[in-house]
This record gives sequence, structure tokens and C-alpha cells, in this order.
Amino acid sequence: GRVLVLAGGLSHEREVSLRSGRRVSDALRSVGLEVDERDVDAALIPSLRNDPPSAVFPLLHGSIGEDGAVREVLDLLGVPYVGSGPAACRVAFDKPVAKTTVLAAGIRTPDSVALPHETFRELGAQAVLERILDRLGLPLVVKPTRGGSALGCTVVREPEELPAAMVGCFAYGEVALLERFVAGTEVTVTVVDTGDGPRALPAVEIVPDGGVYDYAARYNAGATEFVTPARLDDAVATQCAEIALAAHRALGLRDLSRSDLIVDANGAVWFLEVNVAPGMTETSLVPLAVESAGLDLGVICRDLLQLAAN
Ligand code: DAL
Ligand code: MG
Repeated sequence: GRVLVLAGGLSHEREVSLRSGRRVSDALRSVGLEVDERDVDAALIPSLRNDPPSAVFPLLHGSIGEDGAVREVLDLLGVPYVGSGPAACRVAFDKPVAKTTVLAAGIRTPDSVALPHETFRELGAQAVLERILDRLGLPLVVKPTRGGSALGCTVVREPEELPAAMVGCFAYGEVALLERFVAGTEVTVTVVDTGDGPRALPAVEIVPDGGVYDYAARYNAGATEFVTPARLDDAVATQCAEIALAAHRALGLRDLSRSDLIVDANGAVWFLEVNVAPGMTETSLVPLAVESAGLDLGVICRDLLQLAAN
């Protein structure tokens, strides 16, 4: 029967999600599937009840999507879908929680402090920031604990840049994560499981023109150079793959995930975060990894949907 691609939603990454949805829908049609595309709104539930698809591909990025909320609804309605269940999404989407979980599984992740906007206001910005600077040092990265696409994310190199970075972050989320900055090569590893267990696709290396992989560098064609497979020693490449697989398992993820990593100057691999609904746009990383593995995005997405439906 028909499959349904869910895209759009209410998060700051709405536009990105619409682009992901379009790309995956086109890829699925190119391999012969009948595809409906739908946004998420109040009519979603009646529409799923009256006309259930054989399976759903949720491509909602950010909150009310990647946090598991919509998947909870799909579970409630008994509609099968591609990807991780709601509980695993909740853990994976919350960066400090995900970092604690992978750390316990022996994966290196930069030291960090989570700071709610409330605390920041009540304790006084200066006092809080001084204590955090003492602990983490500079540079550090400020980002919303729940978010994506580098929205509200700033690399802070001087103490006086920190207050503005905090304000920028709180515009996108209620809790800020201040994380020690690790200099190195930015790579991402896609994990996919089309029935024979999770496997890692080749690492993609990210080289943004301006040095920072921000929103513009992510979604403007040509603003970032991607190297596939990443220019890493074999041993380091293997380690990246193992870490992405270990994170996928430790977080209880299913079907598809993408772990963002940094390889430092000593070849040590650091986990930054994992995406349970990774971007699928024309400039996104998973489609590049799929291509560099000699695979077809439409075939993989079709296999994932068929597996979900059975
Ligand atoms: N959060 C965006 C969609 C990504 O990770 O690709
Ligand atoms: Mg992300």
C-alpha cells in the first residue's frame, strides 16, 4: 500500500524537514512506491485512523518530532514507522542525557554543563558564567540541549562573547549546553539497519568554507566541502564506525541514526550528538554517506519502510 512521509512540524527546523521530506519522497517514488507527504497538525490523527498508510517515514527534525512525541502518537494508533521508538528518541534528543548515556558505554564526549534559562536568570549571569568558565575553560560551544541544525549554537573563544552566545541559545531552547570545544576534524557516521543488524556507512568529513558548520553552511549548496570517505587513518575510521554503532546500541536506537563526531589532533574520537531523524536534504550528510557506500537512497528508505510494515 501507500507509505506516508511526515515532514514539516513546528520546530525551528521546519524548512529543513520539508526539504528532507521532499527528497525522501522523490527517492521512494523513483523506486516505485506510492507516497503521500503530510505535515503534522491536528488533522493527523483522524487522517491516520481513516486512511492508515502501510508505514510512516517520520522526517520531523527538532522538537515534536525527533523528541519522540509524534512516534508516541503513531504507537498509540498502531501505525508502523521507520526509526527509533519514543523512549529512545527522548534520551537521544536531549544532548546532556545522551552524552551521559554514551559516556557510561565507554564513549568519549566533551565535558559540559547544562544550564536552564531560569537558573541563569536567578543566580545572575556573571556568577554562573564565571563558575562554568573555571570548570570548562575556553573555547567552549554553547548550544540548546534540544535542537538541531546548529541553530542557537555559538563557539565562544573570549569570555566577553559568552553572554551574547547565551542569549542566542535561549532564543532556540530553554536549556543551554555549555560544552568544551574540541578542535579537530568534524565527521559524521550514519548507522543503518535494513534487517541484518546495524552497520556503519563510510564516515563523511565536513569542511565548512567559513570554518564553522552553521545553518548557512549546512543548507546552502557549495558552502561546505564534504569528503567521502573522510580522510582518516584506517584505525581511526574504524574507531569512528565503532563509536557510532556503540552509541546507536547504547541509546537503544533502531533502523537509522547519524552520530556527529570530532577527531582531535591525537586521533581521539569524541561524540558530540546523535540524530534520530537525520537531515535528508540535497546538502545533508546521510544521502552523501549512502551514495559513497554505493547504495541508493530510495532503495534504503524503501527497505526500511518495508521492514517497519512487516
Ligand atoms: N538536525 C539536522 C536535520 C541534521 O542533523 O541533519
Ligand atoms: Mg543534530
